[in-house]
Amino acid sequence: MTVEGMERAARILAGAYRVVVSSGAGMSKESGIPTFRDAMEGLWANYDPQELATEAGFRADPRRVWSWYAWRRERIAQARPNPGHVALVRLAEQVPRLTVVTQNIDGLHARAGSADVVELHGNIQRVKCLDRGHAYEGALPPYADEQDPPPCPRCGSPLRPDVVWFGEMLPEKAVERAWSLAERCDAMLLIGTSGTVWPAAELPLVARRHGARVIEVNPTPSELTHAADVFLQGPSGEVLPALVEAVTRIRSTPA
Ligand code: APR
Repeated sequence: MTVEGMERAARILAGAYRVVVSSGAGMSKESGIPTFRDAMEGLWANYDPQELATEAGFRADPRRVWSWYAWRRERIAQARPNPGHVALVRLAEQVPRLTVVTQNIDGLHARAGSADVVELHGNIQRVKCLDRGHAYEGALPPYADEQDPPPCPRCGSPLRPDVVWFGEMLPEKAVERAWSLAERCDAMLLIGTSGTVWPAAELPLVARRHGARVIEVNPTPSELTHAADVFLQGPSGEVLPALVEAVTRIRSTPA
């Protein structure tokens, strides 16, 4: 990451009216949350995530899929927002409008204090029923290796995590809002995503087509680096606090 890159990115953000943050799994890496594939360790090492995270996989072996999500849910509940999440809360104080659109299901942006968060892939702390989508608000049993998903109190169908599985549609309202924000923003901050999962990967392309500047933060180039005006190479827990400090300095310096 160059000093010039950081300064350029900070100037873009300091001059923007509408900012959209688009975040992926790398954003939560420094909170100790394993990315999807990293979660395939220990007990789960022999499973294929594509088989676990599908409706067919759940129907074939509801115990196994329920237990995998219960295990992840508990790890995520114990995790804490990292300095990257906190920096984005500070950034929202520096620009007129800021919305976080995330592919993450861990809820850490909101827990850090970000007020406006669009969750494209759902939230692992919520559950709903498999057949009718009834939301379930009650307590859940603690993680255990072999556990049947509890039945929906309204219709008896098994409960499942309220996350988007492979092959499923994204929540309609979240998609509508994310796309309309991408079309209207002045700057998009793309953080910790490999850019391989669609349709989320299209967001920076939409923003760019509509004239926004795109700033990417990632330790390694992604599939979307070609669409970025500025690429800040490094972990978001380090890059974002420095970036937001630079934005704050620029905004507090008289022109
Ligand atoms: N800071 C920022 N980025 C990081 C960090 C870090 N500390 N560490 C890793 N990264 C980057 C990686 O370089 C990679 O580009 O985070 C990205 C993680 O990519 P993926 O694991 O593919 O995550 P994501 O793009 O969010 O897509 C995963 O697919 O599994 C499904 O629905 C699930 O939303 C999830 C999506």
